[in-house]
Amino acid sequence: MDDQAKNPIGLFDSGVGGLTVAREIMRQLPNEDLVYFGDTARVPYGSKSKNTVLKYSRQIVRFLHTKNVKAVVVACNTASALALDEIAAEEEIPVIGVVKPGAKMAVESTKTGNVGIIGTESTVKSGIYNDYIRELDPEITVVSRACPLFVPLVEEGLLEDRVTEDIVGRYLQEMKEYRVDALVLGCTHYPLIRNVIKRFMGEEVRLVNPAFETAKSLKELLAAQGLLNRSSHKPKYEYYVSDGVDRFISFADRVLPVHVRDTQVVDIESY
Ligand code: DGL
Repeated sequence: MDDQAKNPIGLFDSGVGGLTVAREIMRQLPNEDLVYFGDTARVPYGSKSKNTVLKYSRQIVRFLHTKNVKAVVVACNTASALALDEIAAEEEIPVIGVVKPGAKMAVESTKTGNVGIIGTESTVKSGIYNDYIRELDPEITVVSRACPLFVPLVEEGLLEDRVTEDIVGRYLQEMKEYRVDALVLGCTHYPLIRNVIKRFMGEEVRLVNPAFETAKSLKELLAAQGLLNRSSHKPKYEYYVSDGVDRFISFADRVLPVHVRDTQVVDIESY
């Protein structure tokens, strides 16, 4: 095994949401060490411009390099939509986002050819999910909708609450009218309210979680480049944030299969 294969995978998000992607990587790649960075001081990215998100993403990738990561996962949908192409072109190590794997899965899931996309304002405005989906199958009709209230609802822990049910109904009524049969949860936080979304949309609508597909694609990519960690050891997980350690840890303990102990604050503006 190449020595580089023993290095950790770096992943980042605008805050806590990317832990849903970390969770999938932990499940599907149980041998890999991870370094997670959550930009909790500068969240949300979902309403910010491309320039800002690109600047933040570059700083975080520079920080991840100090941890000798062998690959970078852009676990945030908004950063994947606005910054992935530039970051990937600038890096020598593999860089993977969550949008492409999610779009591919949506195309594979739909039978009627009507696909729904939900995400942050910036992700939806970028039109990137639509572009990838149409590239794969130009016949597919894509309906997209920003759902900005979902992120604060999830962060407040209102995962099975009447308020959440009400907002889901308001945002997704249109998806029902368009009879979408595959709905992409195009934001890190949305898989955490998938039960409420499922109840509203109905059993026949397939909910696509890009986190699951991303972990699968990452595994294939690392295998193809000889970068899979094949040494049998207990994986090491490190967590870094730009602010609010306690809040991060209490959220992480609700999402991850492992208890998060040490989380360190990083002055990300200095990178
Ligand atoms: N992580 C973001 C995303 O997946 C959601 C939170 C934010 O707006 O920063 O788009």
